[in-house]
Amino acid sequence: MKERILQIVSEAKQSIASADSLDKLNDIRNLYLSKKSELMSFMSHMKELSKEEKAAFGQLINTSKNDINAALESKKEELAKKALEEKLEKEKIDITLTPRNYLRGSKHLFTTIVDEISDIFTSMGYQIVEGPEKETDHFNFELLNVPKDHPARDMQDTFFIDDNNLLRSQTSPVQARVMLSKHGVGPIKIISPGKVYRRDDDATHSHQFGQIEGLVIDKNVSLGDLLGTLELFAKKMFGEKRKIRMRSSYFPFTEPSVEVDISCFECGGKGCSLCKGTGWIEILGAGMVHPHVLEMCGFDNKVYQGFAFGIGIERTAMLKFGVDDIRRFYTNDLRFLKQFDKE
Ligand code: PHE
Repeated sequence: MKERILQIVSEAKQSIASADSLDKLNDIRNLYLSKKSELMSFMSHMKELSKEEKAAFGQLINTSKNDINAALESKKEELAKKALEEKLEKEKIDITLTPRNYLRGSKHLFTTIVDEISDIFTSMGYQIVEGPEKETDHFNFELLNVPKDHPARDMQDTFFIDDNNLLRSQTSPVQARVMLSKHGVGPIKIISPGKVYRRDDDATHSHQFGQIEGLVIDKNVSLGDLLGTLELFAKKMFGEKRKIRMRSSYFPFTEPSVEVDISCFECGGKGCSLCKGTGWIEILGAGMVHPHVLEMCGFDNKVYQGFAFGIGIERTAMLKFGVDDIRRFYTNDLRFLKQFDKE
C-alpha cells in the first residue's frame, strides 16, 4: 500500500509538471485528491489497521496529500504568472508617437545678405543699431536737410499716416536718432539694417525694401576713410579683385555726395549685360555728413566730421546672385527660396 501511495504522489507530480492550463490542473486535483480518488480511498482501509500503523499510515496520506497540494499550488502560481505575462505582451500599446516630419526651413536670401553685410561691418568695429519703421516727418526729412516743400521729397514719396507720421523712406533717420542720443560727443560707428517704404513698384523697385545705413562720426574723418571702408566692403562682398569708383551725386544730407560703383564681377570690367557694357555696377549712395545735419543733430561741425552710406539689401543680393526681379523676395516661391538654402 505504501509503495502504491508513493507511486501515486510521483505520478501526480509528473502530470502537474506537464500541465499547461488551470483547467488541466483542476482535473488533476480531482483525479488525485477528490473523495473518490485512489489516495483518499485508502482512508477506508484505516479501520483495518492497528493503532500504531494507523498513525503512521495517516501521516503518510497527509504528507502525500500536502505534497500534491503544494505542487498544485506552485504550478498554479506559475501558470497564472505566465498568463499575465502573455496578456501584458498581447495588450501592449505603443505609446511613442510616430515622428512628425517637419519641413526644415532655411534662411531667406534677404536675411542671409543682411547677416553677411553685418558681419563685414561688425568685423570693422561697427555696432548694429535699429530704428523704427514708423517715423516722423522731422526725423525722416527735416533733420536730414529736407524741409517741407523741398524738391528732394519727390524722390522719396512714401506712405503717410498723418501729416507728421509716415513709414520711413530710408534708414537715414537712424543717423539723426543716434547723433542726438550722443549729445554732441563722438565717436559714432554704426550700421542700421531695416525695412523702408516708397511709392515705387516695378521689377527693380518695391514699395517695401531693405537698406543698411552706415554712419561714422569722429574727429578727422575724411572722404578717403569712406573710400577705404567701402572698398574693403566691396572686396569682401563681391570678391578680392573688385575695384571701386566714386561718381559725384546728390543727397540732401551729405556734402559732397557720391554714388559708388564696383568693377563688374561678371566680366571683370570688360563690359557685359550685367554692367550694361560699362564695366561698372552701381552699388550704393554715400557722402560726408552735411555740416548742417551735424549741427541740427547736436554735433559741433568745426570739431567733428563724418561719413554715411546707404546700401540696398535686395539690390546687393540681386547683383550677387543674378536675381532678375525684386518681387521674388516677397512672393515666397519655394523654388526661388530653396536655391539659397545654404544650411
Ligand atoms: N538714404 C539714401 C537713399 O535712400 C542713401 C544714402 C544714405 C546716401 C547715406 C548717402 C548717405 O537714397
